[in-house]
Amino acid sequence: MKDILEKLDQRRVKARLGGGEARIAAQHARGKLTARERIELLLDRGSFEEFDMFVQHRCVDFGMEGAKVPGDGVVTGWGTVNGRTVFVFAKDFTVFGGSLSETHAAKITKIQDMALKMRAPVIGLFDAGGARIQEGVAALGGYGEVFRRNVVASGVIPQISVIMGPCAGGDVYSPAMTDFIFMVRDTSYMFVTGPDVVKTVTNETVTSEELGGAKVHTTKSSVADGAWDNDVEALLQVRRLIDFLPANNTQGAPVWPSLDVADRVDASLDTLVPDNPNKPYDMKELIAKVVDEGDVFEIQENFAKNIITAFGRMEGRTVGVVANQPMVLAGVLDSDASRKAARFVRFCDAFNIPIVTFVDVPGFLPGTAQEYGGLIKHGAKLLFAYSQATVPLVTVITRKAFGGAYDVMASKHIGADVNYAWPTAQIAVMGAKGAVEIIFRADMNDPAKIAERTREYEERFLSPFVAAERGYIDEVIMPHSTRRRIAKALAMLAEKNAELPWKKHDNLPL
Ligand code: HXC
Repeated sequence: MKDILEKLDQRRVKARLGGGEARIAAQHARGKLTARERIELLLDRGSFEEFDMFVQHRCVDFGMEGAKVPGDGVVTGWGTVNGRTVFVFAKDFTVFGGSLSETHAAKITKIQDMALKMRAPVIGLFDAGGARIQEGVAALGGYGEVFRRNVVASGVIPQISVIMGPCAGGDVYSPAMTDFIFMVRDTSYMFVTGPDVVKTVTNETVTSEELGGAKVHTTKSSVADGAWDNDVEALLQVRRLIDFLPANNTQGAPVWPSLDVADRVDASLDTLVPDNPNKPYDMKELIAKVVDEGDVFEIQENFAKNIITAFGRMEGRTVGVVANQPMVLAGVLDSDASRKAARFVRFCDAFNIPIVTFVDVPGFLPGTAQEYGGLIKHGAKLLFAYSQATVPLVTVITRKAFGGAYDVMASKHIGADVNYAWPTAQIAVMGAKGAVEIIFRADMNDPAKIAERTREYEERFLSPFVAAERGYIDEVIMPHSTRRRIAKALAMLAEKNAELPWKKHDNLPL
């Protein structure tokens, strides 16, 4: 018996070494941790239970018969994050560059199937070169199996991808179908085809960083939702994100103890909005002052900064926050901002996370660049997302809510439940100057008349009261009591039960 146990131990030690000491050293020299070290950091200490440690590939082509490594380039299993079950797979770059074989795919699909059955999140740690070239269509088929499960699980369990090395092919397409993608700066890259293929096909010379580094994907392409400086920071932040998320689409978000009282007032909010309507202020200050303990987890912080999307908590329970940011492009809605917010709203709605919307928006961004880029369709995505959301929706207009953007930003008309405005709110089809120039064009050569008309327009329309008189705004609230009013509204809405008519699925303007 002793021999048998020792043999098991030896096999385990060998499997845990993956591609061997030299490749582990090379991984460390690149500033990256190994797959197992990453899992240790991601999960609660000692909670990891491994599956399929001894699985090997079955390929016999290109000399692969004699090149078998137990585990086959991916470490899989489950564990807990702050006591809550999650399923995990981590690509092992030291084994065939983490590439995916038929058996490697089967290890991942086993985890996906378990996670779906148990209705618990899946976290994938990627550091891999896509389909294992030596396996040909067997590897491609394996990817198809993974992709299909990504789609089936979408909207049922949260799926999170962390890109922690050079990733290509299927190792970027599978993440693309998950809910969130995070990257590690300077060591992770995402591209469908790498710089060598780009050079061959287009004769373009480009580095990995320029083609698919964290900066590109968090600021330009918006493929990634965030990036951190190293593996350790990234994994700790993913643990933080998991704490905000429900395990699945039927359980609510977890409730964590909070020391912050719901009726905390903040007098500084009474002076947040400047007297001059064209002067910016930082919407992030309002968000931090409203949510529990100022604890905010931003999604896509460095892309389309004119809109903020973030998780926070009210009375210990997760809320999604969507807010125009007057500090960037005056908080205007453009294609990028609309897409970013639409995706966030749909995530929150799929997973029963109430949405709090803060509005200060001068309208949609005019111009050929936007129109040629499909602003109509992209703006419609956000309108569509809010209109189909059945989670509790609470909206606070702090200043401008002009034109179509008024409707889009969780107005009463498209289904928001509780709509508040600060006394500084201005709700109208457009600002005074633009409005007067159109409706009083005949007076344009008479400055005194125009000044009078502008004053009239400002007094009548640039306030929350026209909307409040019609019941489009439920109450004009004091800025200092914003947290208390939102907390009360969310508590009232906790059991909201709204349903849309049955359909196979909608036809979101993609
Ligand atoms: C087999 C692979 C591999 C692959 C890397 N390796 N990718 N083995 N299949 N796809 C092996 C290398 O041969 C090498 O083995 C080891 O992993 C490390 O790779 P390096 O190239 O030395 O590392 P690096 O310079 O860091 O470059 C990493 C890389 C590059 C950018 C990922 O390896 C690369 O471009 N690989 C190919 C990417 C690709 O085109 N994959 C197919 C995609 S198609 P040794 O033994 O020499 O150390 C796909 C289909 C999915 O995925 C469908 C999508 C819709």
